[in-house]
Amino acid sequence: MTEIDVSDIQGFALRGYNFPFARYLLLELLDLKAAQRFVGHVVSHITTGVKWDSGKPASTVNIAFTHPGLIQLGLPEETLLSFPVEFQQGMKARGEILGDTGKDAPERWDAVWDGDRVHVWLGVNGRSQEALDHRCSEMQRIMDETKGARLLYAQDASAVFIDGQPTTKEHFGYTDGFGNPDFKGAQRDCVPGQGKLTKDGRWEALATGEFLLGYADESGELPVAPIPHLLARNGTFMAYRKMHQNVATFRRYLDEQAKRYAPGTKEQLAAKFLGRWRDGTPLELSPDRPDPSIVKDPNRNTDFTYGADPAGARCPLGAHIRRANPRDSFGFNGELVNRRRIMRRGMTYGAYVPEGEPVNDKDERGIVFMALNASLFRQFEFVQQQWIQYGNDARQGNDNDLLTGNHGGKGRFVVQGTTDPRNPPFICGALPDFVELRGGDYFFMPGLTALHMMAAGTVDPR
Ligand code: HEM
Repeated sequence: MTEIDVSDIQGFALRGYNFPFARYLLLELLDLKAAQRFVGHVVSHITTGVKWDSGKPASTVNIAFTHPGLIQLGLPEETLLSFPVEFQQGMKARGEILGDTGKDAPERWDAVWDGDRVHVWLGVNGRSQEALDHRCSEMQRIMDETKGARLLYAQDASAVFIDGQPTTKEHFGYTDGFGNPDFKGAQRDCVPGQGKLTKDGRWEALATGEFLLGYADESGELPVAPIPHLLARNGTFMAYRKMHQNVATFRRYLDEQAKRYAPGTKEQLAAKFLGRWRDGTPLELSPDRPDPSIVKDPNRNTDFTYGADPAGARCPLGAHIRRANPRDSFGFNGELVNRRRIMRRGMTYGAYVPEGEPVNDKDERGIVFMALNASLFRQFEFVQQQWIQYGNDARQGNDNDLLTGNHGGKGRFVVQGTTDPRNPPFICGALPDFVELRGGDYFFMPGLTALHMMAAGTVDPR
């Protein structure tokens, strides 16, 4: 069994906290000594991976740095140059690879991303709005007292509340938050469907090094990591992307297409887009109707494969979840996919508008998408470039992901269906853009030992 030192790992890298409120503080670091002092003070606030035996805390704090942030913190040149090249370059420079062009291009991002001013991401979660505000004030006080950092932008986020209760819905009406990879040492038994497939069809946790630096990955090697080893160990990389959702366009498009999709239903078509019914039921397990008993059961709601559905009769080959985690779709018992997994830590922002009520595309509304992995290049960038923005692996040619792809009114989505009239083959054309990127960057989320070294200025690549 893989032992990991959970007290040295940031809790955010180990688990989704499922708090209803969050604020992502984007900071600029100031004078070197003061910036080190700032990090030194924040360290004592960091939520680690240690289990919450006496219940959830009122709030949590986590921290991560862009490459310009690490430069500002005075890390030695040899260390800075030892980081993976995609992290050194940052998200903007990787735009062509990620498909961040046109409506997703950096020229259209929130002003905070102009230049390279964002050095730090401080992720604060709260069980209540008051707890969140209180913790954020504490962070502001540390900034003021140390004079080491300045708040550039505060991105509020929260769960979608329905009837006063927090839910795991996102703005298009789908239930989110099921699929997340299990890895060794992460302190929970492997949930069926969450890790990797074994030869006898069971599921087991992935290698720790797919998500944390300093441990062997699925190839049995240590992931590429900066030097010294102590700086990298127990750290991870995060892709942060603020994704605006054009809810009015999505609802209008679904309504229009559903009129032509007879005798299939609108909800069936919505399910075909994603691969799950809007309540979360996986199409592979229940192709004809939602089944709340599956959704409720963690041992069933992600326990499915695509191997018995090679032609996309139940779940279309280009459905969002089939593209983003194709499981065994490409044969070899899913082995090609095990090195392309990402941990998602998304949270919605903006007010949720119930179905049937007037809604527009202009209002601030979307998902703060955060993906964690050991290699941005091999995992997040590959998924985004090859599976989201391109369809070849899914045998969809140039068709990209209906939900998040860059379509410009020209996209196409194919429901393969069957000869059964209740499951008709169907082509959705002239796809508009349902999602637009509003900014983001790549961050390094160090372990606690590394944070202490960074604060003390003792990072030594020799
Ligand atoms: C606004 C943008 C997005 C929306 C609304 C969205 C929505 C969803 C929903 C509703 C699910 C199903 C819930 C689940 O299986 O946990 C899901 C799953 C997933 N999404 Fe997205 N998503 C978005 C962006 C992305 C992006 C950009 C990526 C990758 C680069 C991505 C990767 C995934 C993955 C890996 C899964 C889990 C699939 C599985 O394990 O079966 N998503 N998404």
